[in-house]
Amino acid sequence: MQTVKLAIAGFGTVGTGLARILEENEEIIFARCGKKFVLSSVLVRDVNKKRDYLPGPDVKFTADADEFTSNPDVDIVVELMGGITVAKDIVTKALEAGKHVVTANKHLLAVHGIELFEIASRNKVGLYYESSVAGGIPIIQSIKESLAGNRIKSIVGILNGTANYILSEMSTNGLEFDTALEQAKELGYAEADPTFDIEGIDTAHKVCVLTRIAYGKDYPLDELPVKGITEVEGQDIRFAREFGYRIKLIGQVRDVGGKLEAGVFPALVKYTLLLARVGGNYNAIRVEGNAVGPAFFHGQGAGSLPTGSAVLADIMALAKTSTPDNTGFCNAPIKKADILAPDLATSEYYFRFTVQDKAGVMAALAKCLAEHNISIAQAVQKDNPDERDIPVVFTTHKASTKDVKAALAEIDKMPFITRKTVSMRILKG
Ligand code: NAP
Ligand code: HSE
Repeated sequence: MQTVKLAIAGFGTVGTGLARILEENEEIIFARCGKKFVLSSVLVRDVNKKRDYLPGPDVKFTADADEFTSNPDVDIVVELMGGITVAKDIVTKALEAGKHVVTANKHLLAVHGIELFEIASRNKVGLYYESSVAGGIPIIQSIKESLAGNRIKSIVGILNGTANYILSEMSTNGLEFDTALEQAKELGYAEADPTFDIEGIDTAHKVCVLTRIAYGKDYPLDELPVKGITEVEGQDIRFAREFGYRIKLIGQVRDVGGKLEAGVFPALVKYTLLLARVGGNYNAIRVEGNAVGPAFFHGQGAGSLPTGSAVLADIMALAKTSTPDNTGFCNAPIKKADILAPDLATSEYYFRFTVQDKAGVMAALAKCLAEHNISIAQAVQKDNPDERDIPVVFTTHKASTKDVKAALAEIDKMPFITRKTVSMRILKG
């Protein structure tokens, strides 16, 4: 019986999840893979920290990264610590030493992935990352293997469990944003820096990873338009419901006539779409291929066991192959994509203006929008005699990002506007 030795860098939410599954599912893992996986060493910050789960006494815990990386008696290094400095060093050293690497670290991949893929390719080893996107959902393998014969037309997804948990709790249980975020942190969904979750940065990392696996091309992180959910208020969630939508944080990439259009943004999603029904820490991804048509993937996007499950799938896949393909394009170098200028993207929109309730406001708003080629689809003003400032909500027909930016810049300077306007895209199909 062949034994595969694992070293895990990081033994927090995901690391402990992986170790638990290795122990609890030992039998099925062996039956499917024909190999025994042994955890030999673990790197943590603090070896004395009290942990919910501890593996057997043979597993060596260390806080010394040099000691961890210099151990030659390891087949696969599993990076589950996060961050892009120490993690990059550990991954690079492991690949250079001819060891396979499995990582859940989308931040590392988005920023340094192309360089790391080159190092892996040079050393003829695997760098696998199923768990880096959408937690337990097998989306990387599905695009790389099961949809390999398709040209991918679009990928639209809810890719962050924390943001989805917050929006769901605000919508269904009326929780405040901050309370829901605290709960997501306690449940182990949030990043070490939760601003990554709520500002859309984590989703952006995942869009970069998905773009590469779907198109074999890079949409550089620093060029990706990214907007998170911090502007979303309870009243937006209520207005959205009234119009037949749910608010979701969306990450997407699409092929528009050979150019890639991508971005991260909160959107009003038509309640009849499957994406609108995705609640809690769940993620969902709609991939449209030119042969398969639309395919929908749904599952837990964060958390200890779901993410551990995806990490383990990579470990088992690497243990079974002698020719790992890390990029899904035969390890060919990843070049920059031909990008559609973000200002040219078009969408229907939701605007919530906060205005003083006085004559001429509606007319001024409508005039400005018309001057920027933006046509109004619906308009709602809620009268509230107790409030000086009231919300006015418009939905629009399709407009370009460029026109929307220009119109809102003008509107937000108008004397009757009392707060910055909230704008979100609308997804209907
Ligand atoms: P976590 O709970 O914060 O655990 C991080 C672990 O790494 C801890 O054991 C910590 O040691 C160790 N660590 C961090 N920096 C270190 C350093 N400089 N030197 C040595 N050890 C260090 O994080 P997590 O939620 O498991 O996430 C791990 C990775 O998986 C991240 O890249 C994250 O983005 C990704 N991910 C997470 C989820 C999720 O649901 N949580 C899902 C998908 C992907 P101590 O225990 O001693 O502090
Ligand atoms: N913080 C991430 C999320 C973890 O909430 O989705 C999974 O990548």
